[in-house]
Amino acid sequence: MTERKLEGLKVILTGGSKGIGVHYAGALIDAGAQVAILDVADGAELASQLNASQQRDAARAFHVDVSDEAQVKTVVDDVISWIGDVDVLINNAAVFATLGDAKVTDIESALWDKVMAVNVRGPFLMVKHVAPLMIAKGRGKIVNISSGSAYKGLPFMSHYVTSKGAMLGFTRALARELGAHNINVNTLAPGLILSDSISANQEHLDTNRDRVVASRALKRDGFPEDLLGGLIFLCSSESDFMTGQTLLIDGGSVNI
Ligand SMILES: NC(=O)c1ccc[n+]([C@@H]2O[C@H](COP(=O)([O-])OP(=O)(O)OC[C@H]3O[C@@H](n4cnc5c(N)ncnc54)[C@H](O)[C@@H]3O)[C@@H](O)[C@H]2O)c1
Repeated sequence: MTERKLEGLKVILTGGSKGIGVHYAGALIDAGAQVAILDVADGAELASQLNASQQRDAARAFHVDVSDEAQVKTVVDDVISWIGDVDVLINNAAVFATLGDAKVTDIESALWDKVMAVNVRGPFLMVKHVAPLMIAKGRGKIVNISSGSAYKGLPFMSHYVTSKGAMLGFTRALARELGAHNINVNTLAPGLILSDSISANQEHLDTNRDRVVASRALKRDGFPEDLLGGLIFLCSSESDFMTGQTLLIDGGSVNI
């Protein structure tokens, strides 16, 4: 990506240390942003590679469990100490690629609660502690990551699909509530994307890959690179009059 549509913007990206998030971090930085990578997984090496490639203080990794309010509050303060401001929040962290297939009759309640805690409470806590900064300056963008599975249903992943459905309602409620403060809230919903992490989950690929590709208008696999144009659009001024919407990037599997 050569055009620097996010020049000077300060971005918080959750779940940026692994999988699709690594590609998001690289694209955001290529577009001119400074990116705080928040993750339970270590992102220090990724941040130093990105800084070396850009020859600037473009990325820093912060350890946080987004489901823990005390940690979220502290990490937002730490990000502010680093870059002083937040223009864009991307809620990408989720329990996903590590989930095995499970019948709804077999899912342990503790696992259900964990998926909801990370995938739903996490984005809520991030917004709770970042939105005040945006409200104070009367500007900001929030991008929640959902999934095409919230539209289509996906067997043996009812905990995950339910959590991603919640992002659609969360986005609409926030768009109404925060619009008065000139804060745009939108959802990016990818179809099945062959990130490094999901590619390591052979069971998930065996259950879903062929069926998903067959369902698409564009008969091919999806890759992290397919999402980058949409993400940058939702973070940039090009989407300034768009809020409460879902951008579905799935090769034409849903809603065509
Ligand atoms: N890959 C796909 O096919 C696909 C499709 C639709 C939506 N998505 C969504 O895209 C996002 C990224 O998916 P991915 O394929 O890269 O999967 P992934 O499981 O590799 O990515 C999740 C990231 O979140 C981090 N994370 C997990 N728990 C956390 C916590 N408690 N606090 C902070 N960080 C935490 C992980 O360390 C990881 O970096 C997820 O929100 C996922 O639901 C993925």
